[in-house]
Amino acid sequence: MKKIIITIDGYSSCGKSTLAKQLAKRLDYIFIDSGAMYRAITLYFLDNKVDIQDPTTIESALAKIQLEFKNNNHTGQSDIWLNGENVEKAIRTMKISNHVSEVAALEAVRHYAVSQQQAMGEKKGIVMDGRDIGTTVFPKAELKIFMTASIEVRTHRRYDELKPKFPDISLEEVKENLLKRDLIDSTRKISPLRQAKDAITLDNSKLSMPQQLDIAAGWAAEILKGQ
Ligand code: DC
Repeated sequence: MKKIIITIDGYSSCGKSTLAKQLAKRLDYIFIDSGAMYRAITLYFLDNKVDIQDPTTIESALAKIQLEFKNNNHTGQSDIWLNGENVEKAIRTMKISNHVSEVAALEAVRHYAVSQQQAMGEKKGIVMDGRDIGTTVFPKAELKIFMTASIEVRTHRRYDELKPKFPDISLEEVKENLLKRDLIDSTRKISPLRQAKDAITLDNSKLSMPQQLDIAAGWAAEILKGQ
């Protein structure tokens, strides 16, 4: 059967990665969390004190970064590795969340990440989630989903995710970070977050995970039928 490209874009903490992961599993496709790439680059920039005001420094730092996705045998998930080190956990902290949107807005960073993402989709059979996947990375993708959810639902989801790992975290702090990232992500000059004209909206504020998966898999099946 022919394979397609599925893109899932939307605001922070809408559940994009969770759906993308499940959908990829159901279709036996590759899942790529593009946000993890921006987070790993941010981790490298912070650890190496890269001056993000200086384009030459940014270019030379990017030349030293190697990103890979590898299957984790314990969790069955795909983890991101930065220069030979598994950084899946290290990129999920509030510190990274507080800096990632600034780093992701840099032209050289976008160029670096987008070209790698496009190469990953060359053979199709991929579900990629992010902010600009349906607009910039794969503008010709066969299925484009734009996910939304209310800010309250998103804040609680993210809070529940972070609380066990970071007990001091507050709901207010999480909400503030989400709103700030949404603003930077949707107003940046280069490939801002916006809904592609041909993307289908999926508001999951009131949908369970199995319900979302059934809807998205139904859309994919319709498209695959016509291939
Ligand atoms: O999906 P996430 O929250 O892990 O993404 C982290 C940040 O990376 C997000 O605030 C914006 C940026 N990002 C982006 O600019 N473009 C993408 N395709 C994916 C993420």
